[in-house]
Amino acid sequence: MLDNNVLHKKVKDILYSLTGITLAENKDIMISNRLHKLQRDTKYSGDINNLLNAIENGSYTIEFINSFTTNKTHFFREDFHFTDLKDRILPEFSKSGEEIKMYCSASSTGEEPYSMAMTVFEAQEETNRKISASILATDIDTNVLQYAANGVYRFSKSSKEFPEWIKPQKYFKKRVNKTLSTEEILIKVKPEVQRMVTFKVMNLNDSTYPHENNHFDVIFCRNVLIYFSSEDQNIILRKLFSHLKMGGTLYLGHSENPHDLINFVKRVGQNIFIKTKELH
Ligand SMILES: C[S@@+](CC[C@H](N)C(=O)[O-])C[C@H]1O[C@@H](n2cnc3c(N)ncnc32)[C@H](O)[C@@H]1O
Repeated sequence: MLDNNVLHKKVKDILYSLTGITLAENKDIMISNRLHKLQRDTKYSGDINNLLNAIENGSYTIEFINSFTTNKTHFFREDFHFTDLKDRILPEFSKSGEEIKMYCSASSTGEEPYSMAMTVFEAQEETNRKISASILATDIDTNVLQYAANGVYRFSKSSKEFPEWIKPQKYFKKRVNKTLSTEEILIKVKPEVQRMVTFKVMNLNDSTYPHENNHFDVIFCRNVLIYFSSEDQNIILRKLFSHLKMGGTLYLGHSENPHDLINFVKRVGQNIFIKTKELH
């Protein structure tokens, strides 16, 4: 049996090499819990160190990655970003008739890209014109992508997730489920909202991304950089930036910063950046 320090160091090394995620020093309880989850998911009954050896040799990598990602998210998280999208960006596309191409680079269980889609529908109503929009949503975790593509969520009447300019009943259908408390219901995203979003698996740690250069008008990269070292955050941002059109907008999470991009963007709001120069 390996001692916990050695075991946890091994977990951190594997996680870093597979995903780029850097776990902080004080994560012992979390690592232990996730190792239990990993054993459950893989149904591996042997010694945990042997399981880690197998992962190092290329087995169970999906289960390992899915066990160690943190997927916390909710609809309209940091809602001022969606207000900015609705009021500043979408009216331009409504006027020009051009398709707006958006990218959600760590979409987790789907609340973020579906919030982007609902925002497009609201802007359409406000401007009284059809807006052509596509949203690519990627994540490294295949479980959350499956959940997202299914589009079924728990909703409670006391939930404050939706800003007052969104009426959830326009975008979701109620699902009957007897196992939930009376406070909670299940809701399913309507097909017209789902059709706007394409979910794909992608690792932000890959050396290149499968997107064209200067392709997206909008990139959401929120609450994922925090899991990477400062150096790796910068590397990811530089790669993402090459896929953003000149004049396109990058949204970052509340505690994230643009690193090297700072001299190549104009800040127009709280962690809202417009690309003004190409990065060399
Ligand atoms: C905390 S969630 C943030 C979700 C959403 N962007 C938000 O702001 O609510 C972080 C997500 O990043 C994903 N992630 C972590 N490392 C990744 C990587 N190397 N490549 C792609 N996605 C990654 C996780 O699987 C998780 O779903």
